[in-house]
Amino acid sequence: MKLSLLLAAAGLVAIGEAQQKLKVMFLGDSITEITCWRPQVWTQLQAANLTGSIQLVGSMNSIGGSCQKPAGFDARHEGHSGYQAYDVARNNIAGWVRSTQPDVVNFMLGTNDVNIGKRNQQAILDAYTSILNSLRAANANVSVIIDKMIPTSWSDATIEGVNTQIPGWAAKYTTAQSPITVADCSRAAGMTNNMLQGDKVHPNSQGDAFIAKQIGPVLIKALNAKLGRA
Ligand SMILES: *[C@@H]1O[C@H](CO)[C@@H](O)[C@H](O)[C@H]1NC(C)=O
Ligand SMILES: *[C@@H]1O[C@H](CO)[C@@H](O)[C@H](O)[C@H]1NC(C)=O
Repeated sequence: MKLSLLLAAAGLVAIGEAQQKLKVMFLGDSITEITCWRPQVWTQLQAANLTGSIQLVGSMNSIGGSCQKPAGFDARHEGHSGYQAYDVARNNIAGWVRSTQPDVVNFMLGTNDVNIGKRNQQAILDAYTSILNSLRAANANVSVIIDKMIPTSWSDATIEGVNTQIPGWAAKYTTAQSPITVADCSRAAGMTNNMLQGDKVHPNSQGDAFIAKQIGPVLIKALNAKLGRA
């Protein structure tokens, strides 16, 4: 009797702890999937004492082969090479978040809409709005971090234009219940051609460090706010 009560109590504690973990999703394309900034953000989360309070979610579980992985690194994510925001909005995001219900989502999307889809600024911004609606349908309290896209080496005008509009987009849709903040990975914030690979679109190791430096503090702030920490 005593033992079973103890076991029941232990089970309740375990359930309570599991429920308290915030579910965090990194959503994007190859710049999220195959590059090395995610483990660097993880290191920042460790330093901020947040890794015990979160669980990464997503249908993917991978990291670029050359990346340094900190101990305990959680490699789950929702980065898909070649995917466009336009298609993610229509075909993928509702299903991805229905099963994972993230509390915090960081996303960088749109580069393939430009390079592959030849879409315009408004189509990309509309896709962001549609993605946001799906995130909120799965979890009305979701905190969203939208990343300004990293530049291409030729400073693509559509990417730069969307980046200019992202703060206004975030201000238009942010709410107290589901706040939206911006992580600035753009050329204007300091990402240079020296931080890109020879393919002109993916970050090299310097670019990974830059992206992590831009996203990490914004994510830490969003997590601390959710956890009620100052
Ligand atoms: C670190 O976070 C844990 C929760 O995961 C908490 O119990 C602990 O007090 C925190 N430590 C510090 C130094 O803030
Ligand atoms: C959202 O947060 C409110 C309290 O702030 C809570 O009552 C509600 O259950 C939450 N909804 C979801 C879907 O987590």
